[in-house]
Amino acid sequence: MSSNKNILLCVTGGIAVFKAAALTSQIRQAGYEVKVMMTKSAMEFVTPLTFQTLSRNPVYHDTFDEKDPSGVAHIDLADWADLVVIAPATANSIGKLANGIADDMISTTLLATTAPIMIAPAMNVHMYEHPAVFSNMEKLADFGCRFIEPGEGLLACGYVGKGRLAEPVEILEAISAFFKEADHQVLLNKHVLITAGPTREHIDPVRFFSNRSTGKMGYALAEAAASLGAKVTLVSGPSVLKPPFGVEVIPVETAEEMFEAVMAHYADADLVIKSAAVADYRPKLTYDSKVKKSGGDLSVEMERTKDILKELGRYKTRQILVGFAAETDDVERYAKDKLERKNLDLIVANDVSQKGSGFEGDTNQVFIYGKDGYERKSALVSKKQVAEMVLEESLRFMKGLNKG
Ligand code: CTP
Repeated sequence: MSSNKNILLCVTGGIAVFKAAALTSQIRQAGYEVKVMMTKSAMEFVTPLTFQTLSRNPVYHDTFDEKDPSGVAHIDLADWADLVVIAPATANSIGKLANGIADDMISTTLLATTAPIMIAPAMNVHMYEHPAVFSNMEKLADFGCRFIEPGEGLLACGYVGKGRLAEPVEILEAISAFFKEADHQVLLNKHVLITAGPTREHIDPVRFFSNRSTGKMGYALAEAAASLGAKVTLVSGPSVLKPPFGVEVIPVETAEEMFEAVMAHYADADLVIKSAAVADYRPKLTYDSKVKKSGGDLSVEMERTKDILKELGRYKTRQILVGFAAETDDVERYAKDKLERKNLDLIVANDVSQKGSGFEGDTNQVFIYGKDGYERKSALVSKKQVAEMVLEESLRFMKGLNKG
């Protein structure tokens, strides 16, 4: 079996190096091309000859040992790799990568590569739990590195806890899953514009009208679209959620700001998903200073905001337009009405009066209606699964396909 995929295995120093030898053999047997790079300390545990024999390739460890005058080894290897795996990854190697230090062949290559990096840490349990190591790992996760969690058990240092290098078979599974995912980059070169969260419509500097939306659905959509290879712009109302990796976030507060941001990116978008809960009304007057209470009641006169989705529907050219509808009754009728009125391709409706569906939670049950008459009802599933479903249906429209 041949997969034509190149894996650069970076072996850093720790007792788990012996497992990296088994991993090298398994990677090769699985049909991948593998080249191994070692740190000096890794070579204290197992010799390069072992890795050379198992990988059937030369082993690299010295930045200045340039055997081939036609190239620069660490740059060539950085470019050659489709995936870089660091296993075992010591606290030191994690720390160096997180902080941009390049003082040996592995750390230099890791900075020079644009290939995705997968990290399998292995260290003493207290080191693994140290805030410095934790924050380095968080930083690397933010840079887009993937982690293969260490196992728990008796560690070579005598402690029992988390820190044991994942088993070679688990690392191989993660590698296969990665390439499988990479082969599914069906939204590569597509621009997906997503709105998420609530809007805030201010009365004065300390008060506003808003709603219960948290942004979870929109952020899940953004993450799912990015993992399918799309360029994602997420126009987000106020939310405490962490922006998904690789997604451009444009923070907004009011419906008017959301309108401006969405319109600025509309012409370039291939797919627009409007999951934000936009306020339909805003106070007619916004006071510059805090409104003081008086003895009597207070009435706030409200005016309509722009219906962003309707405007998008009006000016639609090639874009696929997906709207959301949060209803409490007669879901199908209201949703289909919005689908038509706003010139959408798809509408995702949910009955927010149902338990587990709608605002704040991690789950949702949705009804998807297409302008071609297609209907799909989901079970009560995670918002991530709903996001995948919505993207699957959107893709069908983008390809101009109809489901039989
Ligand atoms: N939407 C929008 N701009 C608004 C209001 C809503 O773009 N000012 C979008 C939402 O992002 C969502 C869809 O429209 O995709 C919801 O449709 P809407 O008819 O506004 O739903 P409701 O607010 O529930 O309206 P209604 O009171 O008509 O049920």
